[in-house]
Amino acid sequence: MNIYEKLLNKEATLSVIGLGYVGLPIALEFARKIKVMGFDIKADRIEQMRKSIDPSGELEPEAFEGCDITFTADPADLKDANFYIVGVPTPIDKHNLPDLTPVISASHAVGKALKKGDYVVYESTVYPGCTQEDCIPILEQESGLKCGEDFKVGFSPERINPGDKKHTITTITKVVSGCDDISLDNIAKTYELIVEAGVHRAPSIRVAEAAKIIENTQRDVNIALMNELSIIFNRMNINTYDVLEAAGTKWNFLNFYPGLVGGHCIGVDPYYLVYKAKEYRYHPQIINSGRFVNDSMGFYTAKQLVKKLIAAGKNIQQSRVLVMGVTFKENVSDIRNSKVADVICELKSYGVNVDVVDTHADSKELKKEYDIELTTNVRDDYDAVIVAVNHDAYMQIEEEDLKKFMKNTTNPILVDIKGIFRNKIKDLDYWSL
Ligand SMILES: NC(=O)c1ccc[n+]([C@@H]2O[C@H](COP(=O)([O-])OP(=O)(O)OC[C@H]3O[C@@H](n4cnc5c(N)ncnc54)[C@H](O)[C@@H]3O)[C@@H](O)[C@H]2O)c1
Repeated sequence: MNIYEKLLNKEATLSVIGLGYVGLPIALEFARKIKVMGFDIKADRIEQMRKSIDPSGELEPEAFEGCDITFTADPADLKDANFYIVGVPTPIDKHNLPDLTPVISASHAVGKALKKGDYVVYESTVYPGCTQEDCIPILEQESGLKCGEDFKVGFSPERINPGDKKHTITTITKVVSGCDDISLDNIAKTYELIVEAGVHRAPSIRVAEAAKIIENTQRDVNIALMNELSIIFNRMNINTYDVLEAAGTKWNFLNFYPGLVGGHCIGVDPYYLVYKAKEYRYHPQIINSGRFVNDSMGFYTAKQLVKKLIAAGKNIQQSRVLVMGVTFKENVSDIRNSKVADVICELKSYGVNVDVVDTHADSKELKKEYDIELTTNVRDDYDAVIVAVNHDAYMQIEEEDLKKFMKNTTNPILVDIKGIFRNKIKDLDYWSL
């Protein structure tokens, strides 16, 4: 009986290592079909999951119903599993270099638990070559077993989109790969258990790794182009969204918009590719330029507002700005690597008084990460309001609602980073990217 059949008969257990935005939905989806063990190093998160609470705030308690799953923070329990899926974070360090610490440490934990016939599939986003060059040697060293002969390894990148209820683990085609034909077949069949959209069998692990990294790199570079266009059109006093709407009527014009690129995927993954490319003596220009432009947009936005405040005759030190939305994107609570924090810090560095509200973010987390707290006392004398994130709740706002925050000031300014109030503002001094 092969591993797939064993999983199906519940004679083998699938374990997911790292139960965050990626790991938990996968674990729960599999747990509707087969026996699953969820492992995470954070015992407090495990405690929450045991009570059917998703610590990342994405899933409702109903998602845990009818699941054959146990949760553990004890790596010794991993010995009871046979098919390991690794979904731990792959961040960058302060020099924008890949930080493989979680992947390496997860590989040590899995390696210690490996037995003959076991499978390990990495889902964390990495550069091409990482699984074979960085992870498999650890698995072999810890287990004393040989990859390909004693155990199998694969890579299947995660493509979910935080906050997106339409494109989910079951509805997105899953790219799968394996270290040989047998493993590819078993890994593909296993994922087919949960992915209704089907799987794409990549010819190698490196192809699957590269496919994922270029998906986000492509987005990053395209958004950077829109941001650069926005800087140019701002100088020309042309609204970028008007331009994009007009250009978008051509059949092959690509659908990208300017914006703040934050989070732990699009703004991070290109650095993994840049790092690996250098090993091959190539210094990427376009990818790095994209990163430079996108990483600068928070500071740029703040500077544009400061210029407008000065032009409106405001004393910068006494001026007040309300920022609406601080998460890295709409309708999520995740504030990691939010470029709105750059806008706020830059404004504060000029002496501007900044208040922040958000319908999704957690004030304690903000305080810890950025030393920013959410305000509970929204005023009526802000000199400017920045709508930084297009949370659903902010999409319903009218100009009259915004004016209430600025009724006791002169020449109030609206900064509409996402362009959601375009053509709707009559009285406020309007600026968007
Ligand atoms: N969030 C997304 O939408 C998304 C989409 C596609 C790909 N990815 C990729 O998936 C991977 C995971 O991202 P995420 O957003 O789920 O991260 P996350 O930070 O939400 O979750 C990671 C989890 O792993 C745990 N963890 C850390 N080190 C561990 C270890 N050594 N052993 C066990 N558990 C450990 C953490 O406690 C946390 O619960 C990353 O490589 C990311 O780039 C994420």
